[in-house]
Amino acid sequence: TPLDKLRNFSIIAHIDHGKSTLADRLIQRTGGLAEREMSAQVLDNMDIEKERGITIKAQTVRLEWKGHVLNLMDTPGHVDFAYEVSRSLAACEGALLVVDAAQGVEAQTLANVYQSIEHDHEIIPVINKIDLPAAEPERVKTEIEDIIGIDTSNAVLASAKSGIGIDEILDAIVAHIPPPKGDINAPLKAMLVDSWYDPYLGVVILIRVIDGSIRKGQQIKFMNADTTHLVDRVGAFRPKIEQLPDLGPGEIGFITAQIKEVAQTMVGDTITDAKRPTAEPLPGFKEVQSVVFCGLFPVDAADFDKLRESISKLRLNDASFTFEMESSAALGFGFRCGFLGLLHLEIIQERLTREYDLDLITTAPSVVYQIELTHPDPAGITQIDLHNPADMPDVNKIKTISEPWIQATIYVPDEYLGGILKLCQDRRGIQMNLTYVGGRAQAVYELPLNEVVFDFYDRLKSLSKGYASFDYEQIGYREGDLVKMSILVNEEPVDALSMIVHRSTAETRGRGMVERLKELIPRHLFKIPIQAAIGGKVIARETISAMRKDVTAKCYGGDASRKRKLLDKQKKGKAKMREYGSVSIPQEAFIAALRMG
Ligand code: GTP
Repeated sequence: TPLDKLRNFSIIAHIDHGKSTLADRLIQRTGGLAEREMSAQVLDNMDIEKERGITIKAQTVRLEWKGHVLNLMDTPGHVDFAYEVSRSLAACEGALLVVDAAQGVEAQTLANVYQSIEHDHEIIPVINKIDLPAAEPERVKTEIEDIIGIDTSNAVLASAKSGIGIDEILDAIVAHIPPPKGDINAPLKAMLVDSWYDPYLGVVILIRVIDGSIRKGQQIKFMNADTTHLVDRVGAFRPKIEQLPDLGPGEIGFITAQIKEVAQTMVGDTITDAKRPTAEPLPGFKEVQSVVFCGLFPVDAADFDKLRESISKLRLNDASFTFEMESSAALGFGFRCGFLGLLHLEIIQERLTREYDLDLITTAPSVVYQIELTHPDPAGITQIDLHNPADMPDVNKIKTISEPWIQATIYVPDEYLGGILKLCQDRRGIQMNLTYVGGRAQAVYELPLNEVVFDFYDRLKSLSKGYASFDYEQIGYREGDLVKMSILVNEEPVDALSMIVHRSTAETRGRGMVERLKELIPRHLFKIPIQAAIGGKVIARETISAMRKDVTAKCYGGDASRKRKLLDKQKKGKAKMREYGSVSIPQEAFIAALRMG
């Protein structure tokens, strides 16, 4: 396709503002799919995406409109996938900014739109859902101008649902988004935008060609991974797969190259010709790094192999999550897993539970701490990255502990602001900025990531009746007064429950934890002390009193069938208990105790 007939764009939108509905409309209007082939939402093709209404993996489609090829690049819609978003945006020259005509601009929209502006995108505002009675397109236009600072004179008023404004949007893309630049004669230079595992094709790689061209049979090189592969398919999604002879400069499409695992493909990598390579890789490449870690253990120890298999399968398709085997005295064998963020963690956990039918225990999510040691360890190392609170070195060996911080932007209607500010304060937040636009406040806070990974987002949503939106970026490590809090049941530490906390919040956290455990651990024939401790010092304590003997005696009276039922029930219950020292802790206790109150 000649460069001047090409347009590459993405759609920026806050969750629920109608991105998928609009994308489907554009596909339908340009003839990619017949009416009967339009399932509810073509682009969000994973069940969990559908249920949660979020886009996890970027998809892209090639549309044809009035002699032009328009490539629609879908972007993941959540902060956890910010790097993927940045690569997708880097592959485009423009964006549709979809804003709900009744809701207006939200924090997530802002974060993405700023990125889009940084990539020098031409932005076309689309005011969606104008069919709604509550739609206020003029107010939203003014808001876009005031808050984002972009011109809205070429904004399109649309209803993706009723099909209003669709032709106008397609025309605006051709008219306003600049065609890509590129040199067909230069050596191949393409960006690896995304990849996923397909059971029939193997790993499918989404690329944006910058210079040169790519075709079947070509020997290519991934510059950062430093591997070579043979291209065996080239094509595009319309949205059905269509093979093409080649992809030239400016084009977006896919290749396959007999690759078995997505871990071999890194988002943002530069693809070039193995024999005639380009001089420099593309700028902006980053290796993905897990931010949040937790242990995943099977409830039933016999499921360990199944868990291993399922995790390996998931990993085939998601290189951004990591795992290694871990064993815990309380929970047995499991895996320490790393995720891009909490949502990513939840998605993986949910898929394991649902698709692979596993009962899992998740230990408290933790961030990565940097520990500086007073003396080098035997290997000569003085700084370690701590992924698991259980591996924390002895206090007297620690010089400093640093934790990751984030800058959070929270956007919330005025009436809920008070509660949100208090929440940020309680989480050791530092207010950086507070501004008001049209009845809504934008609060910018610096916060320790550790205070955010537990339940910050849920609290934010409940304090604001769902109206607050939240976005964050990491801003580096800072030293903090951090300590390891252990939980002791009957004088023995339960490693799965230990966590790293700030000294100022340790007592509250410890008290909450022992109080919950007191409710959750059943009585035994003896007294069980439950303690939270820092080093040797107990900071909170509860005691479960002993059970009276006649309680058990009573259970075993009655007729035979009732007795058997009880015994069966007890057996089942027992399978779900973990013997800990002399104390049995039900699985639910772990799960519930780890949930922050
Ligand atoms: P994510 O995939 O989570 O990013 O959401 P999205 O932005 O793709 O939103 P989606 O297209 O799933 O639309 C969200 C909801 O808004 C759905 O219930 C749609 O039916 C509805 N919706 C989308 N466009 C319109 C519109 O023009 N008018 C009305 N009334 N509803 C719309």
